[in-house]
Order: sequence, then structure tokens, then C-alpha cells
Amino acid sequence: MAKILVTGGTGYIGSHTVVELQQNGFEVVIVDNLSNSYAGVIDNIEKITGIRPGFELLDLREDKKTDDFFNGHRDIAGIIHFAALKAVGESVAEPLKYYENNILSLVNILKAMKKYKLNKLVFSSSCTVYGQPDILPVTENAPVKQAMSPYGHTKQISEDIITNVCNVEPIHGVLLRYFNPIGAHDSALIGELPIGIPSNLVPFITQTAIGIRDYLRVFGNDYSTPDGTAIRDYIHVVDLAKAHVTAVNRLINLKNKKNVEIFNLGNGMGFSVLEVIQSFEKMAGVKLNYKIVERRPGDVEKVWADTSYANSELGWKAGKNLDDMTLSAWNWELYLRKINVY
Ligand code: NAD
Ligand code: WQD
Repeated sequence: MAKILVTGGTGYIGSHTVVELQQNGFEVVIVDNLSNSYAGVIDNIEKITGIRPGFELLDLREDKKTDDFFNGHRDIAGIIHFAALKAVGESVAEPLKYYENNILSLVNILKAMKKYKLNKLVFSSSCTVYGQPDILPVTENAPVKQAMSPYGHTKQISEDIITNVCNVEPIHGVLLRYFNPIGAHDSALIGELPIGIPSNLVPFITQTAIGIRDYLRVFGNDYSTPDGTAIRDYIHVVDLAKAHVTAVNRLINLKNKKNVEIFNLGNGMGFSVLEVIQSFEKMAGVKLNYKIVERRPGDVEKVWADTSYANSELGWKAGKNLDDMTLSAWNWELYLRKINVY
């Protein structure tokens, strides 16, 4: 059974990926500093899969402790690196926190990989690297545009660091550019747990519907889109998780065609904010209180992925539709209320 290290494995996308890895026969060890997640996630992963993943509390900014961890786990077959800070607004207010956390963690991992001769890395990147693309749907060959936030910049820098290291070391990397991950596991035992007021659309919708927020602000209805609201490519987090299993298998089976490969991971279709609201209302059976307000500064008008490269090369395709996504997000919110999280 190949052992996979999942950094940030108690987080939103990481926890879903741990479940998929275990269900595909991998042994998993998680490292996380629990800065944006809870150790209780491990219990729920175990409830879903019947297997308790390994876990070590580790802050990847700490180079000595990171080195010690890798020294003790020389049998790791592949690494999926999710651990990062991801709040766009906070990154504008506190850029150094983002550069230190996201870049230092990656550098410490790569140093340990080099030292202990580990050579397979899957990295969480983001469609944010494209900014507002000139051509839609956006392919992996679209130019990387100036980052709109320090967070986005850390993703661009991280992609460059991995590429430069893979050019000279026997390390192979897969850079996965996620579009907008939403939804939760069918079991409703794991999902996204935003700390404080959510900035992302779907957690804000579900928190409004359950009564934690008064109303959703729809940021702008004067975009050049069919209903005037901005368009994104929403992807179910379980579909996204499955792509990581495929990517790590590709590296382990030496099927990658280049030292560094880049894949867009989206659903391949764009949905407007109003379409997401309509889907939510239909699936949850709840009328959502919302108001149209000014555009949010820094938002792009529309972006959705060309996923044909991931479809053909990885043999992966998103299987869940928008209704699956909004329903699972709602079931997760109901679970959070049941366990009195807020
Ligand atoms: P998340 O915050 O739920 O998970 C990240 C996890 O990393 C958390 O559990 C956190 O505690 C941990 N972490 C952060 N810094 C750490 C450190 N220094 N040492 C150890 N652990 C640390 O976020 P997520 O939504 O699951 O995102 C996972 C990855 O995907 C991130 O790299 C993020 O930038 C990227 N991504 C997310 C989205 C999205 O919309 N959720 C979109 C594109 C890319
Ligand atoms: C989606 C749409 C908003 C909240 C962000 C990051 C990006 C990536 C994914 C990590 C937009 C609208 C939102 C609200 C609204 N993360 N909206 N009212 O901005 O596409 O991407 O998360 O890499 O880097 O920037 O996602 O969920 O915030 O917004 O109308 O209260 O919903 O304007 O059109 P976004 P989002």
C-alpha cells in the first residue's frame, strides 16, 4: 500500500482527498498545523472510510521540524501539498503572513524532498493565476496575468519555484489549477468550515439560508453576462478530490510526460451568481434573501475552464452538476447546525 503525505489534510479539499485516497487503497499520513481546520475532521474521515489516517501536528514553516518529519517518513510515495493560507482579502491586508506561510512551507517541503530523495509532488494551484483571461474557456496555455492579490501571487511564485526545482532535481510535479471548489461530501460529515464571515459565495448562501447572515450581497448585476452577474466555473469538491488520486497515480506509475505538468480542474461550464442562487433555492427548498449591490473590487467578470487536457491526459472528468453541489453544501450546513458549530 503506497503511502501518501497530504499536507493540509484536515482542511476542506485535503479532507475530501484523504477519503478518496483511502478508498483507492492508499495509506495516508496528514500533516497540518490546524490554523484553519480541526483535529475532529480526522474522526469524521474515519467514520466515512473506516480507516483512521495518520496525523502529525506540524507547522510547515518550521524547517527543522519539517525535516524531522520527513526523516521519519522516508517511505512516502507521493506528496499532495494543500497546506496554505487562502483568504484573498486577508492576504491584501497582511501580505507578509501569506508570503511567509505559503512560500516557506513549500520551500521546506522541497528541501526535504531533495534531501530524502522523494520525487513526486502534486500542488494546489488556482485559476486565480489567469486573472481575467482574454479567451474563454481558458486553457492551461493562457498567459499567467499579474496577480490580483498577494494570495494569488503566492500561487504564481509557488508554480515557478516548483518548475525551477523540477528542472534541476529528479523531482516531478503536477500543478493543479482549481477553479471554484464548492459542495461537500455526500455523507455531510466533512465540508468547508469558514472561520468568521465567509467571503466565498456558497458558504455565504448557506449561512444566510440557515439564519446566520441577514442577506447575501450579490456583487454586481451590470457585467457583460446574460443575467448581468459574474460567471465562475464551480466544481464539486469530491470531483476535485478524485482528480488528485488520478494525478498522484500518474506520477507513481511514471505516466507523466514532462517534469512539470499543469492541469485545469473545473467543471468546464460557467454559472452566474443568480444561477447558483436558483439552484440552491430549488435543491434546498429555501427562499434566499439577497440584494444586488456594487461590484466587489478585484473580481473578474467571467472565467471558466477548458478541461479537455485533464479529460484526455488524466482520464478525469467532473461528474457532478451544479444541483449536486448546492444540495451537498446545504446538507453540510444542516450538519454544522446539528452539531452546534456556530
Ligand atoms: P483550507 O484552509 O481548508 O485547508 C488548508 C489547510 O492547510 C488547513 O487545514 C490549514 O490548517 C493548513 N495549513 C495552512 N498553513 C499551514 C502550515 N504552515 N503548516 C501546516 N498546515 C497548514 O483550504 P482549502 O480550501 O482546502 O485549500 C487547499 C489548497 O487549495 C490551498 O493551497 C488553497 O490555496 C488551494 N485552493 C483553494 C481553492 C478554494 O477555493 N478553496 C481554490 C484554489 C486553490
Ligand atoms: C464567486 C462569485 C463573486 C460572495 C475566490 C478566490 C480564488 C479561488 C476561489 C483560491 C463572484 C460572487 C461572492 C458574495 C457574491 N480561491 N459573490 N456575493 O472570487 O471567484 O474566487 O475563491 O484559489 O482565488 O479569489 O470566489 O466564491 O468569492 O465568488 O456575489 O457574498 O460570487 O462576486 O462572482 P472567487 P467567490
